[in-house]
Amino acid sequence: MVYQANSARYESMEYRRCGRSGLKLPAISLGLWHNFGDTTLLDNSRQLLQRAFDSGITHLDLANNYGPPPGSAEENFGRILREDFLPYRDELIISSKAGYTMWEGPYGDWGSRKYLISSLDQSLKRMGLEYVDIFYHHRPDPETPLEETMRALDTVVRQGKALYVGVSNYPAELAAQAIDILNDLGTPCLIHQPRYSMFERWVEGGLLDVLQEKGVGSIAFSPLAGGQLTDRYLDGIPADSRAASGSKFLNADQLTEDKLSKVRKLNAIAQRRGQKLSQMALAWVLRGDRVTSVLIGASKISQIDDAVGMLANRHFTAAELAEIEEILV
Ligand SMILES: NC(=O)c1ccc[n+]([C@@H]2O[C@H](COP(=O)([O-])OP(=O)(O)OC[C@H]3O[C@@H](n4cnc5c(N)ncnc54)[C@H](OP(=O)(O)O)[C@@H]3O)[C@@H](O)[C@H]2O)c1
Repeated sequence: MVYQANSARYESMEYRRCGRSGLKLPAISLGLWHNFGDTTLLDNSRQLLQRAFDSGITHLDLANNYGPPPGSAEENFGRILREDFLPYRDELIISSKAGYTMWEGPYGDWGSRKYLISSLDQSLKRMGLEYVDIFYHHRPDPETPLEETMRALDTVVRQGKALYVGVSNYPAELAAQAIDILNDLGTPCLIHQPRYSMFERWVEGGLLDVLQEKGVGSIAFSPLAGGQLTDRYLDGIPADSRAASGSKFLNADQLTEDKLSKVRKLNAIAQRRGQKLSQMALAWVLRGDRVTSVLIGASKISQIDDAVGMLANRHFTAAELAEIEEILV
């Protein structure tokens, strides 16, 4: 059956200006890091994308290496895009990145002009796109001159292969330098993509100040700490969860008693607020309006519904924030 998007899709989402750019992003964006590779049923990936778009989630985040195997998330996304979303291409903000190991030899990793431009060409082919909306340098490269990496980002915009560019995982000072170089080149940095959640707060130590001062937006990845900031692990490790999947990014060792005790206390506050812990954790990242969008992952449609349901209750009292702070220290 031909997919027909929900006609009410723009009614429940909030769209927020990304820094001082002309682009607005949904308060919630969907990442395709997990659950879109060749080890996942294509039909589940399709349903997740349909539910996201039907809920007003217009921004989908990819990278060259998402899978497994690397590249397969872009390929599978490309197929679903062709089959379901082509009429909606201009309603979507699609991003990709390069910065981690992608192919053998010295040109398939890090931040050289050679790697970034070849990688974006490969990503466009896999997805069947003429351009991505945002292209990121995925992580800092300690060896390549920053100027070279930023020039490569400027080039892909001038070539029409990306509309905007951004950086990810750059510490505050390096991000400030990258933003200044891009401004000098005439291709402003749209956005920074850092990890940020109740359990991972490094951005509060300067990065958010830099971005605010320079008018650059931010999109917080892993706002649920990969599922730890949800009710998923309150009663053990479910067989269908990320922690049970053999992931090197989330495993049983990380779910320490200390962490679970914090999760239980946070869960009690969320219940008092009449929402799920996952919803409170997303609202918390969006508090203060310095984060443009929260970049979630999902393995089930209900998780997308939970995230969107958060928008109905985003406000925190000063007392609630103080109580949360005491748990997190
Ligand atoms: N730039 C970078 O270096 C970088 C790095 C990592 C991620 N990212 C981006 O960020 C995106 C999100 O990362 P993430 O997947 O780690 O984000 P996350 O939102 O912190 O974690 C998502 C996982 O949490 C669980 N979950 C979500 N909603 C839930 C709910 N309502 N109840 C219970 N469990 C729930 C699901 O895990 P289960 O599988 O257990 O159901 C889901 O896959 C990625 O797809 C990618 O686009 C970027």
